[in-house]
Amino acid sequence: MPDRIVTIDGPAGSGKGTIGQKLALELGWRFLDSGALYRACAHLAVKHNLDPDVPELIIDHLNDFEFESIPAGSNEEAKVLLNSEDISFEIRTADCAQMASRIAVSHAIRSALLLIQREYYHPPGLVADGRDMGSVVFPNAMMKVFLTASLEVRAKRKFKQLKNKDISLKYDKIYKEIENRDLRDSTRSHAPLTTPEGALVVDTSTLDIEQVLQTVLEGVYSNINAFESEAQ
Ligand code: DC
Repeated sequence: MPDRIVTIDGPAGSGKGTIGQKLALELGWRFLDSGALYRACAHLAVKHNLDPDVPELIIDHLNDFEFESIPAGSNEEAKVLLNSEDISFEIRTADCAQMASRIAVSHAIRSALLLIQREYYHPPGLVADGRDMGSVVFPNAMMKVFLTASLEVRAKRKFKQLKNKDISLKYDKIYKEIENRDLRDSTRSHAPLTTPEGALVVDTSTLDIEQVLQTVLEGVYSNINAFESEAQ
């Protein structure tokens, strides 16, 4: 029996965060932004002056690590809390993204975060976005989605997002930053970014948010119907 989970994987700027949050709100399910979890670890490393290439140092701090990703509501922005501290702004910088991608190469870190991610599931269901949600963390998910888009489109989206958050960066730098992360995230040996088997693949390059959401929702509702009849 599959779990009542929808996974949404994809590279930076593919739209998985936006679609994941909207989907979670629509379904009334919990939302896990696993990228924010890796970013929170990067934030911890900076805050405590830890060498990001020595995973044991970061893992030591995970004992009292309380993480929460709250999706955007109709009037509120999405929030990320680490031990009740609002780190939503700090973790969105390009430096934090790079550090998160560097830390995420470590098998030890990924194993330490596995349980935190799996414990995020609560009835009635979970929408989880990231790089290895469908392939490793929730292989038994009811439905798997993989969003993608051209590097140029993704870089433009990130440029706009960061500008809206008052984080100033040149477009060329964002393009390079995403290119670097794509390469590192998809070639690492543990849980690389990949299209999970059986995933609904959507290229969002020429689609707007509503069009992507509708495509994903159609797939989700037909999976939920099949899921409910199997459960009876
Ligand atoms: O989704 P994001 O851009 O916020 O993720 C930041 C980095 O965290 C990403 O470049 C790689 C890492 N990450 C990961 O390795 N596995 C995940 N499931 C999510 C993120």
